[in-house]
Amino acid sequence: MIPNEVIIDLGRLRRNLFEIKRLAGPHTRILAIVKSDAYGHGMLPVARTLESAGIDYLGVFELEEGLELRKAGHKLPILIMMGVQSDEVPAAVESEVTPALFQLEIARELSRISSEQDKVTPVQIKVDTGMTRLGVCPEDLQGFLRQILSLKGIQLEGIFSHLAVADQQEHPFTDKQIRIFQEAVEQYRRFVGHRGVVHVANSGALWGNRGLDFGMARPGILLYGSPPAQEWTAAASFEPVMSFRSKVIQIRTVPPGTYVSYGCTYMTEKRSTIATIPVGYDDGYSRLLSNNGDVLIHGRRVPVAGRVCMNLTMVDVTGVEGVAVGDEVVLLGSQGKERITAEEIAARIGTINYEVCCTIGKSNRRVYVDSEGIFSE
Ligand SMILES: Cc1ncc(COP(=O)(O)O)c(C=O)c1O
Repeated sequence: MIPNEVIIDLGRLRRNLFEIKRLAGPHTRILAIVKSDAYGHGMLPVARTLESAGIDYLGVFELEEGLELRKAGHKLPILIMMGVQSDEVPAAVESEVTPALFQLEIARELSRISSEQDKVTPVQIKVDTGMTRLGVCPEDLQGFLRQILSLKGIQLEGIFSHLAVADQQEHPFTDKQIRIFQEAVEQYRRFVGHRGVVHVANSGALWGNRGLDFGMARPGILLYGSPPAQEWTAAASFEPVMSFRSKVIQIRTVPPGTYVSYGCTYMTEKRSTIATIPVGYDDGYSRLLSNNGDVLIHGRRVPVAGRVCMNLTMVDVTGVEGVAVGDEVVLLGSQGKERITAEEIAARIGTINYEVCCTIGKSNRRVYVDSEGIFSE
């Protein structure tokens, strides 16, 4: 079997949740974002761990993910953040998930099917306070609320919005969005009273202590132990849940002037030792790490030599004593005192830690461990 493994530490996930709860305070409930296969960490094991550790709500992007959670036995409320399409309405009603709502036609369809089945489907209104992505415009909210409340078979369970720059501390656009959301919430409460859930805080907002007084936070990346912005790394009391490791499958010593990999972009300057690892861009290890990434072997950083191939990458281990076939290689995570974070990889290839985790996590066999044993508050 190929020796590549993405290791998911569920103990760390629990610790991160505990840390989030500490930050959020006792009056803020947690809606855990487990969409996109829990950012590459595996939706079902992550949801199981979080549910048993006491979260209040699960959030996914699309209905299919919600159905998978239900099939696995999750009883918690599940928010479908993209809402549902008209052909998905029967399954949404049947599975008792909570679609985000921002289109009247879908609300009517949910109402029709729910009423036919003598059911009441919970919904949450998504209001667009400045992302220009999904949601009811604030100026249309009052009319929308009025229409929704006239429909049978659906129950307005909450209202939420999403912040565009919460990863930048004290950004005036966040102030503006929160102000608009506050007004939307006041309208909502005029119609619905104080029942239901209200939430806007993603990881950035949670860390920056913004939007928590609405009573619920909606973190994703912090659960997985990564900071919502590169420059926040120093403040981290969170531990990355994901690591990625492989093994050396060939090693050779070559003379000066030897080219390595496609395109001959790397040439040894002296007698060098080159190790080959069975990891490539097909495994989520970006080709942009060609001559640009580091990996850890024997607790030391060594550079990627030449281009990352589809299934293989070479690293220059010259000067690292005794590297042999079968030795562990860490591409993401810690070895000895060294650590390579998703933030480091992201900075090297011009993206964000979110994408690094999603891509590596989904492209490899995942192994689940629990470093902390049972962690209780
Ligand atoms: C609507 C919504 N809420 C919450 C989140 C979680 O964001 P973060 O991972 O930054 O906490 C996301 C993530 O993309 C999202 O799209």
